[in-house]
Amino acid sequence: MINRKKLEEQQKKEIKLFEKSHKKSKALFDRAKGCLLRGVPMNWMVRWAGSYPIFVETAEGAHFVDVDGNRYVDFCLGDTGSMVGHAPEASVKAISDAVKKGTTFMLPTEDAIYSGEELQKRFGMKYWQFTTSATDANRFILRLARDATGRDKVLAFNWCYHGSVDETVAILDKNSNVIAKTGSVGPQVNPALTTKLIEWNDVEALENALKDRDVAAVLAEPVMTNIGIIHPIEGYHKALRDLTKKYGTLLIIDETHTICTGVGGYTKAYGLEPDAVTIGKTIASGIPTGAYGMTKEFGETAADSKREQYEDVGGVGGTLAANALSMAAMRATLSEVLTQEFYDRNIPLAERFNDGVQNVIKEYDLPWNTTSLGCRTEYWFRKEPAKNGFEAEAAFDDSLDKYMHLASMNRGILMTPFHNMALITAKTSEEDVDYHTKIFREIVENILD
Ligand SMILES: Cc1ncc(COP(=O)(O)O)c(C=O)c1O
Repeated sequence: MINRKKLEEQQKKEIKLFEKSHKKSKALFDRAKGCLLRGVPMNWMVRWAGSYPIFVETAEGAHFVDVDGNRYVDFCLGDTGSMVGHAPEASVKAISDAVKKGTTFMLPTEDAIYSGEELQKRFGMKYWQFTTSATDANRFILRLARDATGRDKVLAFNWCYHGSVDETVAILDKNSNVIAKTGSVGPQVNPALTTKLIEWNDVEALENALKDRDVAAVLAEPVMTNIGIIHPIEGYHKALRDLTKKYGTLLIIDETHTICTGVGGYTKAYGLEPDAVTIGKTIASGIPTGAYGMTKEFGETAADSKREQYEDVGGVGGTLAANALSMAAMRATLSEVLTQEFYDRNIPLAERFNDGVQNVIKEYDLPWNTTSLGCRTEYWFRKEPAKNGFEAEAAFDDSLDKYMHLASMNRGILMTPFHNMALITAKTSEEDVDYHTKIFREIVENILD
Protein backbone atom coordinates (compact mmCIF):
# COMPACT_ATOMS: atom_id res chain seq x y z
CA MET A 1 0.00 0.00 0.00
CA ILE A 2 2.83 2.43 0.91
CA ASN A 3 5.09 2.47 -2.12
CA ARG A 4 8.58 2.34 -0.58
CA LYS A 5 10.26 3.51 -3.78
CA LYS A 6 7.98 6.54 -3.94
CA LEU A 7 8.61 7.13 -0.24
CA GLU A 8 12.36 7.20 -0.83
CA GLU A 9 12.01 9.57 -3.80
CA GLN A 10 9.61 11.86 -1.97
CA GLN A 11 11.93 11.97 1.03
CA LYS A 12 14.78 13.17 -1.21
CA LYS A 13 12.52 15.88 -2.67
CA GLU A 14 11.44 16.95 0.81
CA ILE A 15 15.06 17.20 1.99
CA LYS A 16 15.85 19.49 -0.96
CA LEU A 17 12.78 21.60 -0.24
CA PHE A 18 13.78 21.84 3.42
CA GLU A 19 17.31 22.96 2.64
CA LYS A 20 16.06 25.55 0.15
CA SER A 21 13.70 27.18 2.63
CA HIS A 22 15.87 26.95 5.77
CA LYS A 23 19.12 28.64 4.79
CA LYS A 24 19.44 30.83 7.88
CA SER A 25 18.82 27.87 10.16
CA LYS A 26 21.63 26.09 8.30
CA ALA A 27 23.99 29.04 8.83
CA LEU A 28 23.18 29.09 12.56
CA PHE A 29 23.63 25.34 12.81
CA ASP A 30 27.06 25.58 11.14
CA ARG A 31 28.07 28.33 13.59
CA ALA A 32 26.71 26.33 16.55
CA LYS A 33 28.92 23.39 15.68
CA GLY A 34 31.88 25.56 16.82
CA CYS A 35 30.70 25.68 20.44
CA LEU A 36 27.76 23.34 21.01
CA LEU A 37 28.18 19.59 21.07
CA ARG A 38 26.92 18.32 17.68
CA GLY A 39 25.70 21.87 16.96
CA VAL A 40 22.78 21.84 19.38
CA PRO A 41 22.23 23.12 22.93
CA MET A 42 20.44 19.89 23.91
CA ASN A 43 21.23 16.52 22.41
CA TRP A 44 17.72 15.54 21.22
CA MET A 45 17.58 18.57 18.93
CA VAL A 46 19.62 16.75 16.28
CA ARG A 47 16.88 14.17 15.98
CA TRP A 48 14.35 16.32 14.10
CA ALA A 49 13.40 15.16 10.62
CA GLY A 50 15.16 17.95 8.64
CA SER A 51 18.86 18.04 7.69
CA TYR A 52 19.41 20.23 10.78
CA PRO A 53 17.15 21.79 13.42
CA ILE A 54 14.92 24.76 12.65
CA PHE A 55 15.95 27.80 14.71
CA VAL A 56 12.97 29.65 16.20
CA GLU A 57 12.61 33.42 15.95
CA THR A 58 9.33 34.06 17.75
CA ALA A 59 6.11 32.37 18.81
CA GLU A 60 2.60 33.33 19.86
CA GLY A 61 -0.34 31.12 20.75
CA ALA A 62 -0.36 28.08 18.45
CA HIS A 63 2.15 29.41 15.91
CA PHE A 64 5.83 30.17 15.56
CA VAL A 65 8.07 31.73 12.96
CA ASP A 66 11.60 30.51 12.26
CA VAL A 67 14.68 32.58 11.45
CA ASP A 68 14.02 32.15 7.72
CA GLY A 69 10.56 33.67 8.11
CA ASN A 70 8.66 30.38 7.69
CA ARG A 71 5.46 30.25 9.74
CA TYR A 72 4.25 27.04 11.40
CA VAL A 73 1.16 25.74 13.12
CA ASP A 74 2.73 24.24 16.24
CA PHE A 75 1.06 20.95 17.17
CA CYS A 76 4.20 19.87 19.08
CA LEU A 77 4.03 22.71 21.62
CA GLY A 78 7.36 21.80 23.18
CA ASP A 79 6.11 18.23 23.71
CA THR A 80 3.62 19.57 26.31
CA GLY A 81 5.90 22.24 27.83
CA SER A 82 3.86 24.80 25.88
CA MET A 83 0.52 23.00 25.89
CA VAL A 84 -0.97 26.24 27.25
CA GLY A 85 0.20 27.98 24.06
CA HIS A 86 3.18 30.23 23.48
CA ALA A 87 3.35 33.36 25.60
CA PRO A 88 -0.16 33.30 27.12
CA GLU A 89 -1.01 36.84 28.15
CA ALA A 90 -1.72 36.20 31.86
CA SER A 91 1.53 34.25 32.30
CA VAL A 92 3.60 36.81 30.39
CA LYS A 93 2.31 39.53 32.71
CA ALA A 94 2.92 37.52 35.90
CA ILE A 95 6.39 36.44 34.73
CA SER A 96 7.37 39.99 33.68
CA ASP A 97 6.17 41.39 37.02
CA ALA A 98 7.92 38.65 39.02
CA VAL A 99 11.24 38.99 37.25
CA LYS A 100 11.45 42.65 38.26
CA LYS A 101 10.97 41.68 41.92
CA GLY A 102 13.78 39.11 42.06
CA THR A 103 13.77 35.55 40.79
CA THR A 104 15.20 33.23 43.44
CA PHE A 105 15.82 33.45 47.20
CA MET A 106 15.82 29.99 48.80
CA LEU A 107 12.88 31.46 50.67
CA PRO A 108 9.21 30.83 49.96
CA THR A 109 6.73 33.22 48.38
CA GLU A 110 2.96 33.26 48.77
CA ASP A 111 2.56 32.04 45.17
CA ALA A 112 3.86 28.63 46.29
CA ILE A 113 0.97 28.32 48.76
CA TYR A 114 -1.54 29.31 46.10
CA SER A 115 -0.06 26.70 43.75
CA GLY A 116 -0.04 24.01 46.46
CA GLU A 117 -3.68 24.73 47.32
CA GLU A 118 -4.70 24.65 43.67
CA LEU A 119 -2.86 21.38 42.94
CA GLN A 120 -4.40 19.91 46.09
CA LYS A 121 -7.90 20.71 44.77
CA ARG A 122 -7.12 19.34 41.33
CA PHE A 123 -5.37 16.09 42.23
CA GLY A 124 -6.60 15.34 45.76
CA MET A 125 -3.06 15.04 47.17
CA LYS A 126 -2.57 16.71 50.56
CA TYR A 127 1.11 17.79 50.59
CA TRP A 128 3.08 19.32 47.69
CA GLN A 129 6.72 20.11 46.90
CA PHE A 130 8.21 21.85 43.88
CA THR A 131 11.18 21.04 41.66
CA THR A 132 12.78 22.43 38.51
CA SER A 133 11.47 19.67 36.24
CA ALA A 134 9.09 16.73 36.04
CA THR A 135 12.15 14.49 35.94
CA ASP A 136 13.20 15.80 39.35
CA ALA A 137 9.67 15.36 40.70
CA ASN A 138 9.86 11.68 39.74
CA ARG A 139 13.38 11.24 41.08
CA PHE A 140 12.53 12.77 44.46
CA ILE A 141 9.25 10.95 44.97
CA LEU A 142 11.03 7.66 44.25
CA ARG A 143 13.57 8.45 46.97
CA LEU A 144 10.79 9.25 49.41
CA ALA A 145 8.95 6.07 48.44
CA ARG A 146 12.04 3.95 49.05
CA ASP A 147 12.56 5.65 52.37
CA ALA A 148 8.93 5.25 53.45
CA THR A 149 8.71 1.56 52.50
CA GLY A 150 12.28 0.45 53.21
CA ARG A 151 12.27 -1.29 49.82
CA ASP A 152 14.69 -0.87 46.90
CA LYS A 153 12.91 -1.72 43.70
CA VAL A 154 10.81 0.43 41.38
CA LEU A 155 8.22 -1.03 39.03
CA ALA A 156 7.63 0.66 35.68
CA PHE A 157 6.27 -0.29 32.26
CA ASN A 158 8.08 -1.45 29.16
CA TRP A 159 8.79 1.56 26.88
CA CYS A 160 7.58 4.07 29.46
CA TYR A 161 9.17 7.49 29.74
CA HIS A 162 9.32 9.60 32.90
CA GLY A 163 12.22 11.92 32.03
CA SER A 164 15.86 11.00 32.54
CA VAL A 165 15.05 9.04 35.71
CA ASP A 166 17.76 6.37 35.87
CA GLU A 167 15.45 3.62 37.08
CA THR A 168 13.17 4.05 34.07
CA VAL A 169 15.70 4.37 31.25
CA ALA A 170 15.19 0.66 30.72
CA ILE A 171 13.32 -1.78 28.51
CA LEU A 172 12.61 -5.50 28.35
CA ASP A 173 14.72 -7.61 25.99
CA LYS A 174 13.20 -10.46 24.02
CA ASN A 175 13.62 -12.81 26.99
CA SER A 176 11.83 -10.34 29.28
CA ASN A 177 15.02 -9.31 31.08
CA VAL A 178 15.39 -5.68 32.17
CA ILE A 179 18.17 -3.97 30.19
CA ALA A 180 19.27 -0.38 29.62
CA LYS A 181 17.12 1.32 26.97
CA THR A 182 18.52 1.16 23.45
CA GLY A 183 20.82 4.13 23.02
CA SER A 184 21.00 4.80 26.76
CA VAL A 185 24.21 6.67 27.60
CA GLY A 186 26.28 5.52 30.57
CA PRO A 187 23.67 3.82 32.78
CA GLN A 188 24.47 4.54 36.46
CA VAL A 189 24.08 0.86 37.27
CA ASN A 190 22.56 -2.10 35.49
CA PRO A 191 18.84 -1.11 35.62
CA ALA A 192 17.93 -4.73 36.45
CA LEU A 193 19.29 -3.95 39.94
CA THR A 194 16.85 -1.11 40.52
CA THR A 195 13.89 -1.83 38.32
CA LYS A 196 11.20 -4.35 37.52
CA LEU A 197 9.51 -3.81 34.17
CA ILE A 198 6.28 -5.32 32.95
CA GLU A 199 4.02 -4.74 29.98
CA TRP A 200 1.21 -2.20 30.46
CA ASN A 201 -2.25 -3.76 30.82
CA ASP A 202 -0.95 -7.14 32.07
CA VAL A 203 -2.58 -7.76 35.47
CA GLU A 204 -0.98 -11.16 36.00
CA ALA A 205 2.52 -9.78 35.40
CA LEU A 206 1.74 -6.96 37.81
CA GLU A 207 0.81 -9.33 40.63
CA ASN A 208 3.86 -11.51 39.93
CA ALA A 209 6.14 -8.49 40.09
CA LEU A 210 4.66 -7.17 43.34
CA LYS A 211 4.23 -10.33 45.33
CA ASP A 212 7.87 -10.53 46.51
CA ARG A 213 7.12 -7.33 48.45
CA ASP A 214 10.39 -5.72 47.37
CA VAL A 215 8.85 -2.96 45.22
CA ALA A 216 8.78 0.48 46.87
CA ALA A 217 6.64 2.11 44.20
CA VAL A 218 4.95 1.67 40.88
CA LEU A 219 5.61 4.69 38.65
CA ALA A 220 2.96 4.92 35.95
CA GLU A 221 1.51 7.35 33.48
CA PRO A 222 -2.25 6.76 33.82
CA VAL A 223 -2.33 6.42 30.03
CA MET A 224 1.00 5.73 28.36
CA THR A 225 1.86 8.65 26.07
CA ASN A 226 5.51 8.42 25.24
CA ILE A 227 5.50 5.38 22.95
CA GLY A 228 2.20 6.61 21.59
CA ILE A 229 -1.07 6.89 23.48
CA ILE A 230 -1.94 3.53 25.06
CA HIS A 231 -5.11 3.51 27.11
CA PRO A 232 -5.59 1.20 30.09
CA ILE A 233 -7.90 -1.73 29.45
CA GLU A 234 -11.15 -1.87 31.43
CA GLY A 235 -10.40 -2.49 35.12
CA TYR A 236 -6.63 -1.99 34.83
CA HIS A 237 -6.47 1.01 37.14
CA LYS A 238 -8.55 -0.80 39.74
CA ALA A 239 -6.16 -3.75 39.58
CA LEU A 240 -3.19 -1.39 39.85
CA ARG A 241 -4.61 0.21 42.99
CA ASP A 242 -5.83 -3.03 44.58
CA LEU A 243 -2.59 -4.93 44.00
CA THR A 244 -0.27 -2.12 45.08
CA LYS A 245 -2.28 -1.84 48.31
CA LYS A 246 -2.29 -5.61 48.80
CA TYR A 247 1.52 -5.83 48.59
CA GLY A 248 2.37 -2.58 50.42
CA THR A 249 3.70 -0.79 47.33
CA LEU A 250 3.14 2.93 46.79
CA LEU A 251 1.40 4.04 43.60
CA ILE A 252 2.80 7.13 41.87
CA ILE A 253 0.86 8.57 38.93
CA ASP A 254 2.85 10.77 36.55
CA GLU A 255 0.47 13.38 35.09
CA THR A 256 3.10 15.38 33.18
CA HIS A 257 1.52 14.57 29.79
CA THR A 258 -1.92 13.35 30.85
CA ILE A 259 -2.78 16.81 32.15
CA CYS A 260 -4.15 17.03 28.59
CA THR A 261 -7.19 15.09 29.91
CA GLY A 262 -8.62 17.89 32.07
CA VAL A 263 -7.88 20.33 34.91
CA GLY A 264 -6.92 17.56 37.34
CA GLY A 265 -5.41 15.27 34.72
CA TYR A 266 -6.54 11.69 34.35
CA THR A 267 -6.51 11.27 38.13
CA LYS A 268 -9.43 13.64 38.64
CA ALA A 269 -11.27 12.70 35.45
CA TYR A 270 -11.26 8.98 36.32
CA GLY A 271 -11.29 9.17 40.13
CA LEU A 272 -7.88 7.53 40.64
CA GLU A 273 -6.59 7.34 44.21
CA PRO A 274 -2.79 7.10 44.03
CA ASP A 275 -0.36 7.70 46.90
CA ALA A 276 1.45 10.39 44.93
CA VAL A 277 1.14 12.47 41.76
CA THR A 278 3.99 14.03 39.77
CA ILE A 279 3.74 16.74 37.14
CA GLY A 280 5.76 19.43 35.32
CA LYS A 281 6.14 21.02 31.89
CA THR A 282 3.06 23.09 31.09
CA ILE A 283 1.93 23.98 34.63
CA ALA A 284 4.12 27.10 34.66
CA SER A 285 3.65 28.03 30.97
CA GLY A 286 7.05 26.57 30.09
CA ILE A 287 9.08 28.19 32.88
CA PRO A 288 11.06 25.18 34.19
CA THR A 289 9.26 23.65 37.12
CA GLY A 290 7.79 20.43 38.44
CA ALA A 291 5.73 19.30 41.41
CA TYR A 292 5.00 16.20 43.42
CA GLY A 293 2.08 15.70 45.73
CA MET A 294 1.46 13.04 48.35
CA THR A 295 -1.43 11.75 50.41
CA LYS A 296 -1.53 12.89 54.03
CA GLU A 297 -0.30 9.49 55.19
CA PHE A 298 2.62 9.25 52.76
CA GLY A 299 3.58 12.89 53.37
CA GLU A 300 3.66 12.50 57.12
CA THR A 301 5.74 9.33 56.90
CA ALA A 302 8.15 11.01 54.48
CA ALA A 303 8.59 14.17 56.54
CA ASP A 304 8.92 12.26 59.79
CA SER A 305 11.40 9.68 58.58
CA LYS A 306 13.62 12.33 57.04
CA ARG A 307 14.21 14.24 60.28
CA GLU A 308 17.12 16.63 59.93
CA GLN A 309 18.86 15.04 56.95
CA TYR A 310 15.78 15.70 54.82
CA GLU A 311 16.39 19.40 55.19
CA ASP A 312 19.72 19.46 53.42
CA VAL A 313 21.76 16.49 52.35
CA GLY A 314 18.95 14.00 51.76
CA GLY A 315 19.32 13.90 47.98
CA VAL A 316 15.99 15.69 47.58
CA GLY A 317 15.81 19.34 46.53
CA GLY A 318 17.73 21.98 44.57
CA THR A 319 18.60 25.64 45.09
CA LEU A 320 16.42 26.81 42.21
CA ALA A 321 13.46 24.58 43.06
CA ALA A 322 10.33 26.54 44.03
CA ASN A 323 11.99 29.81 43.04
CA ALA A 324 9.81 32.91 43.07
CA LEU A 325 9.68 33.25 39.29
CA SER A 326 8.48 29.71 38.65
CA MET A 327 5.92 29.96 41.45
CA ALA A 328 4.51 33.20 39.99
CA ALA A 329 4.34 31.54 36.57
CA MET A 330 2.59 28.50 38.03
CA ARG A 331 0.05 30.60 39.89
CA ALA A 332 -0.85 32.55 36.76
CA THR A 333 -1.02 29.39 34.64
CA LEU A 334 -3.24 27.51 37.06
CA SER A 335 -5.51 30.43 37.87
CA GLU A 336 -5.92 32.01 34.43
CA VAL A 337 -4.71 29.76 31.63
CA LEU A 338 -5.08 26.05 32.34
CA THR A 339 -8.73 26.37 33.26
CA GLN A 340 -11.88 24.37 32.55
CA GLU A 341 -12.55 26.69 29.60
CA PHE A 342 -9.20 25.70 28.12
CA TYR A 343 -10.30 22.07 27.95
CA ASP A 344 -13.88 22.86 26.90
CA ARG A 345 -12.55 24.76 23.91
CA ASN A 346 -9.69 22.47 22.90
CA ILE A 347 -10.91 18.90 23.33
CA PRO A 348 -13.51 19.26 20.51
CA LEU A 349 -10.75 20.63 18.27
CA ALA A 350 -8.60 17.58 19.02
CA GLU A 351 -11.60 15.47 17.99
CA ARG A 352 -11.84 17.46 14.77
CA PHE A 353 -8.13 16.81 14.10
CA ASN A 354 -8.69 13.13 14.79
CA ASP A 355 -11.75 12.94 12.51
CA GLY A 356 -9.85 14.64 9.68
CA VAL A 357 -7.02 12.09 9.88
CA GLN A 358 -9.50 9.21 10.25
CA ASN A 359 -11.31 10.27 7.07
CA VAL A 360 -8.07 10.12 5.08
CA ILE A 361 -7.20 6.74 6.62
CA LYS A 362 -10.64 5.42 5.59
CA GLU A 363 -10.54 7.04 2.17
CA TYR A 364 -7.29 5.24 1.27
CA ASP A 365 -7.98 2.18 3.40
CA LEU A 366 -4.65 2.63 5.20
CA PRO A 367 -3.67 0.09 7.90
CA TRP A 368 -3.31 2.97 10.38
CA ASN A 369 -5.32 4.15 13.39
CA THR A 370 -5.74 7.22 15.56
CA THR A 371 -5.82 7.46 19.35
CA SER A 372 -6.73 10.45 21.53
CA LEU A 373 -6.67 11.66 25.09
CA GLY A 374 -8.27 15.04 25.85
CA CYS A 375 -6.52 17.71 23.77
CA ARG A 376 -3.84 15.22 22.57
CA THR A 377 -4.28 13.04 19.51
CA GLU A 378 -2.08 10.99 17.21
CA TYR A 379 -1.95 8.64 14.28
CA TRP A 380 -0.20 5.29 14.23
CA PHE A 381 1.21 3.04 11.55
CA ARG A 382 -0.75 0.00 12.75
CA LYS A 383 -4.36 -1.00 12.27
CA GLU A 384 -5.47 -1.43 15.87
CA PRO A 385 -4.48 0.65 18.90
CA ALA A 386 -1.54 -0.97 20.74
CA LYS A 387 -2.20 -2.53 24.15
CA ASN A 388 1.34 -2.25 25.47
CA GLY A 389 4.83 -0.91 24.86
CA PHE A 390 5.99 -4.00 22.99
CA GLU A 391 3.20 -3.75 20.42
CA ALA A 392 3.64 0.00 20.12
CA GLU A 393 7.38 -0.19 19.55
CA ALA A 394 6.94 -2.89 16.93
CA ALA A 395 4.78 -0.49 14.90
CA PHE A 396 7.56 2.09 14.55
CA ASP A 397 8.49 2.79 10.96
CA ASP A 398 11.48 5.11 10.90
CA SER A 399 11.52 6.13 7.25
CA LEU A 400 7.75 6.68 7.14
CA ASP A 401 7.89 8.63 10.39
CA LYS A 402 10.73 10.88 9.14
CA TYR A 403 8.91 11.52 5.89
CA MET A 404 5.60 12.44 7.57
CA HIS A 405 7.39 14.86 9.90
CA LEU A 406 9.55 16.45 7.23
CA ALA A 407 6.78 16.79 4.65
CA SER A 408 4.57 18.33 7.36
CA MET A 409 7.31 20.77 8.38
CA ASN A 410 7.84 21.80 4.76
CA ARG A 411 4.15 22.67 4.61
CA GLY A 412 4.20 24.65 7.86
CA ILE A 413 3.10 22.03 10.39
CA LEU A 414 5.18 20.91 13.38
CA MET A 415 4.18 17.57 14.92
CA THR A 416 5.63 16.12 18.15
CA PRO A 417 8.88 14.37 17.22
CA PHE A 418 9.56 10.63 17.56
CA HIS A 419 5.91 9.82 16.93
CA ASN A 420 3.00 11.53 15.19
CA MET A 421 1.28 13.32 17.98
CA ALA A 422 -0.58 16.64 18.05
CA LEU A 423 -1.60 18.87 20.93
CA ILE A 424 -4.30 21.49 20.65
CA THR A 425 -3.94 24.77 22.53
CA ALA A 426 -6.00 27.87 23.22
CA LYS A 427 -5.20 29.60 19.95
CA THR A 428 -5.24 26.61 17.63
CA SER A 429 -8.04 27.40 15.17
CA GLU A 430 -10.40 25.23 13.14
CA GLU A 431 -8.54 26.47 10.05
CA ASP A 432 -5.23 25.20 11.52
CA VAL A 433 -6.75 21.78 12.12
CA ASP A 434 -8.36 21.60 8.67
CA TYR A 435 -5.12 22.75 7.09
CA HIS A 436 -3.43 19.76 8.75
CA THR A 437 -6.07 17.42 7.29
CA LYS A 438 -5.46 18.91 3.84
CA ILE A 439 -1.69 18.49 3.91
CA PHE A 440 -1.96 15.07 5.57
CA ARG A 441 -4.05 13.88 2.58
CA GLU A 442 -1.56 15.41 0.14
CA ILE A 443 1.58 13.91 1.70
CA VAL A 444 -0.06 10.51 2.07
CA GLU A 445 -1.20 10.54 -1.58
CA ASN A 446 2.39 11.22 -2.63
CA ILE A 447 3.60 7.86 -1.31
CA LEU A 448 0.74 5.52 -2.24
CA ASP A 449 0.79 2.96 -5.06
C1 LIG B 1 5.35 11.40 31.52
C2 LIG B 1 6.58 12.24 31.65
N1 LIG B 1 7.11 12.44 32.87
C3 LIG B 1 8.20 13.19 33.05
C4 LIG B 1 8.83 13.78 31.97
C5 LIG B 1 10.06 14.60 32.19
O1 LIG B 1 9.85 15.93 31.88
P1 LIG B 1 11.11 16.92 31.88
O2 LIG B 1 11.98 16.44 30.74
O3 LIG B 1 10.50 18.24 31.59
O4 LIG B 1 11.77 16.81 33.18
C6 LIG B 1 8.33 13.58 30.69
C7 LIG B 1 9.00 14.17 29.52
O5 LIG B 1 8.66 13.97 28.37
C8 LIG B 1 7.18 12.79 30.52
O6 LIG B 1 6.66 12.56 29.32
